[in-house]
Amino acid sequence: MDATQMALIHIVSWSIGLVLFFIAYSMIKQGKAEKPIKITQMVLRVFYLLIVATGADLFFNHYGMNVEDTQFAEYIVKIVGGIWVVAAMEMTLAKAKKGKKEFSGWLQLIIALILVLALGFARLPFGFLP
Ligand code: HEM
Repeated sequence: MDATQMALIHIVSWSIGLVLFFIAYSMIKQGKAEKPIKITQMVLRVFYLLIVATGADLFFNHYGMNVEDTQFAEYIVKIVGGIWVVAAMEMTLAKAKKGKKEFSGWLQLIIALILVLALGFARLPFGFLP
């Protein structure tokens, strides 16, 4: 699999992940039954694995490790940020389920997403923004 295909799978994975996150969230808010929510969350967690696996592959096999080391720090921040996005999604859903305050979860999700999208699209070599 070449880098472009892997990057595409990465983008599709986190896009579907985000959509599933919003679906699960609105199901919780609508007070839907436990089971369909659980199933949606389980599918979402499979996508977490895909996100991490494609991200790791991009890093180890396509870019990152192979690229000039000038952007190494940005790669590390991108990877930690990506994991942070996943953690923030989990946190927000858990808080919503328990009826706790969701603010810190949403705040982290937004910050981590902006960070990761900026690095991924605008800074790291595969991005297409200037
Ligand atoms: C929901 C979380 C994530 C989002 C929104 C996200 C977003 C992006 C975006 C927009 C790009 C640039 C387009 C591309 O090259 O495909 C990218 C690339 C990349 N991502 Fe992620 N990502 C996430 C999670 C992760 C994780 C968990 C890892 C590491 C395990 C990771 C590692 C990478 C790497 C290494 C690249 C290639 C960057 C390059 O060389 O240009 N990402 N990601």
